[in-house]
Amino acid sequence: MTQDQLKQAVAQAAVDLIVPQLTDRSIVGVGTGSTANFFIDLLAQHKGFFDGAVASSEATAERLKKHGIPVYDLNNVAELEFYVDGADEANKHLELIKGGGAALTREKIVAAVAETFICIADASKLVEQLGAFPLPVEVIPMARSHVARELVKLGGDPVYREGVVTDNGNVILDVHNVAIGFAPEVEAKINNIVGVVTNGLFAARPADVLLLGTDSGVQKLAR
Ligand code: 5RP
Repeated sequence: MTQDQLKQAVAQAAVDLIVPQLTDRSIVGVGTGSTANFFIDLLAQHKGFFDGAVASSEATAERLKKHGIPVYDLNNVAELEFYVDGADEANKHLELIKGGGAALTREKIVAAVAETFICIADASKLVEQLGAFPLPVEVIPMARSHVARELVKLGGDPVYREGVVTDNGNVILDVHNVAIGFAPEVEAKINNIVGVVTNGLFAARPADVLLLGTDSGVQKLAR
């Protein structure tokens, strides 16, 4: 199977998992990226069976709206049963690295609100040790050099993602060679640097379910 076929298979598995649990009052949290896009397109086939969605990026909001799925402001949503999103890396504890698509901050906010965070990914995303994928860090533009120096002090090699401005008007530093021992500690330490909005480690709030697309079918890991 191609990587896209694996992504489509996990997206379908997520739809199969959540749709029977949705009601006409349900609002679904929707992530960003190519796997999330497959999920949106498949979820749209069931749009009469739930109320709408909250999007983790402008791109996702646009895709949802194109399908005729109402998109709500998170501030006006009291309850979010499910958040479905992809990842750049995942480990067996369901801790993730996200932000390859620069949407990490809104993704982390929606994940924080959701009752159940379902991560969907092809099997290549499952790793023994997080950190081969450079860790994205969203930074307030004027703090970019300061944050980069602080990240170097922590042992990382930050690289400015040229030409990228996040939906929040900020910039991204991709940090290579971060030693991720105890992931929640590393997440907190980087978030504590003044000027950092957030970083792409999802360890304080990991996924609850990881659906992995493999050649022999979709595997489900749960916490
Ligand atoms: C976007 C993300 C994506 O979930 C991550 O980059 C995975 O993307 P894809 O599904 O295209 O492989 O975190 O900020």
